[in-house]
Amino acid sequence: MPELLQQIKSSPSRIPAHVAIIMDGNGRWASEHDLPRSEGHRAGMKSVREVVEGSIEAGVDVLTLYAFSQENWQRPRSEIAFLMSLLQRYARSEIDDLVENGVEVHVIGDVERMNPPERKAIGMIIEKTRGGANLQLVLAISYGSRAEIIRAARRLAEEVAAGDLEPAEIDETIFARSLYTEPWPDPDLLIRTSGEYRISNFLLWQLAYTELYTTPVLWPDFTRRHLFEAILDYQRRERRFGKVTA
Ligand code: IPE
Ligand code: IPE
Ligand code: MG
Repeated sequence: MPELLQQIKSSPSRIPAHVAIIMDGNGRWASEHDLPRSEGHRAGMKSVREVVEGSIEAGVDVLTLYAFSQENWQRPRSEIAFLMSLLQRYARSEIDDLVENGVEVHVIGDVERMNPPERKAIGMIIEKTRGGANLQLVLAISYGSRAEIIRAARRLAEEVAAGDLEPAEIDETIFARSLYTEPWPDPDLLIRTSGEYRISNFLLWQLAYTELYTTPVLWPDFTRRHLFEAILDYQRRERRFGKVTA
């Protein structure tokens, strides 16, 4: 492991500033172990800890984790209830370590759709971790990218209607400023676990030039070593942004 970290650090200008992860495969991990789906979600918490710590070690500035999609509201009520209770447990059990490690937590998504206890847990973790300077941890909860884009369009339309903005002034910079992700640069690297090759309504606007990495590893089996391997793979790539190589 120290070798992997050393390799990453040997190209300091190529460390991804922002890594986003679609944490997938908890249910399949559980069935592989003859366990209920909920145990897969529980086991996935350990991987969250791994990637938070691993991101700090590797020098990543922003880590965005897709924890619950807008479409996930269509899952059985019992599964949703379990995931929400896990969120509260995460907030309570991790808060001290997050503060100690200098992690500042943010949440993006339609939080209004959640129940008061979960919203309270989210509010608490955001407030207590404010000012953390080592890592910005962005949790996408009740998040859907199309809904985020519509919300941005509506906000801009309201500004135009109020006479505060000219339609001709709307450009990519102004549009991006109306998204939840306004404070952070676009992800450099997107990791999806469990061997799926799709975006599942995650950061559609922000991923325009992100490097994609998929691994068959199921989320509960994902460790910081896997994160480091993904970063090393990223460091070997040539990002052209539509231009030709000099
Ligand atoms: C990811 O694991 C966690 C969430 C989407 C909340 P899944 O629950 O989607 O696991 P699989 O894809 O069924 O294996
Ligand atoms: C994407 O995983 C959402 C999260 C990881 C939170 P899903 O398991 O919900 O996505 P699909 O249904 O396989 O596309
Ligand atoms: Mg899944």
